[in-house]
Amino acid sequence: MSVRRLAEVQPESFAFSKASEEKVAFWLNKYPDDRKASAVIPLLWLAQKQDGWVCEPAIREIATRLDMPFIRVYEVATFYTMFNLEPVGEHLIQVCGTTPCWLRGADDLKAVCETRIGKKGRGNVSADGKFSWEEVECLGACSNAPMVQIANADGDYYYEDLTAEALEKILDDLAAGKQVETGPVTGRKASEPTKAKQKVLVEESLFDGSRAEKITLPNAVSSGEGETPEPKAKRVTSEREKTQAQSGKATAKPAPRDKKEADKPAGSPKAPKKSDPAGKEKDEAVKKTSSKKPAPSRQRPVNPAPKKPAPKRSAPKKKDE
Ligand code: FES
Repeated sequence: MSVRRLAEVQPESFAFSKASEEKVAFWLNKYPDDRKASAVIPLLWLAQKQDGWVCEPAIREIATRLDMPFIRVYEVATFYTMFNLEPVGEHLIQVCGTTPCWLRGADDLKAVCETRIGKKGRGNVSADGKFSWEEVECLGACSNAPMVQIANADGDYYYEDLTAEALEKILDDLAAGKQVETGPVTGRKASEPTKAKQKVLVEESLFDGSRAEKITLPNAVSSGEGETPEPKAKRVTSEREKTQAQSGKATAKPAPRDKKEADKPAGSPKAPKKSDPAGKEKDEAVKKTSSKKPAPSRQRPVNPAPKKPAPKRSAPKKKDE
């Protein structure tokens, strides 16, 4: 981002017009007295819409209104590129030069601006004071590329699907003080397909509902006369019950774990009784003990003793040595 400074030439003073004052009051009413600073951007915007740019006296006036240090308002005004810090043309043309617009002909639009208005830059106002232009990054209308935003006292408007000729005409109309329709110049609505009445899905039954089959929701409560009420689904509480309900074996006994257990007679005296409270308590105690994490050792780790280097093996002596 380039350095943004206030214009060298500044007016003596600034005052909000009567119409602007009403809007200022609206914004000030939105915030409690000790949070007035929240209205700094709306007030700067109002000053810009009134005069076309934000001058230094306007920044001081806003700082006074909001009980803010001047430097704080100055910081906001110089940070956001939407604030013009120098006088601009009555209509500021912002040409999007980012890739989708560039691929679709943004260079042609820039050429028109250069020929009609002059050098790029907000402060380079055309001789009649009507226009200035600049290149900006993506304005979020890429599907309607190439496009420009035109900012003036009325607002900020998009003009899309442009060609060099279409932009020329828009500039002509604005210079003549005519109303120019905003949006795509091709006549399409928003970013709908360009061919008139084209539908992505062409089969009628997809739109008129005739294709949809009637379905019955499993838990639907019957209300119509003569209809057979749907059986209420049994409430399933646990995972095990869910599985049983799905497999239809809700009453089946659980299978024995292994063959030995399966071979045991049902009334075997050695089989532990499930209702045995002593055994149950014992099991609980074992569970608790096993689930406890081992307490971390407070002893400092002892460095292992350094390993002794292995003795070198000498080569076996030959017999004749
Ligand atoms: S690239 Fe131009 S609007 Fe997104």
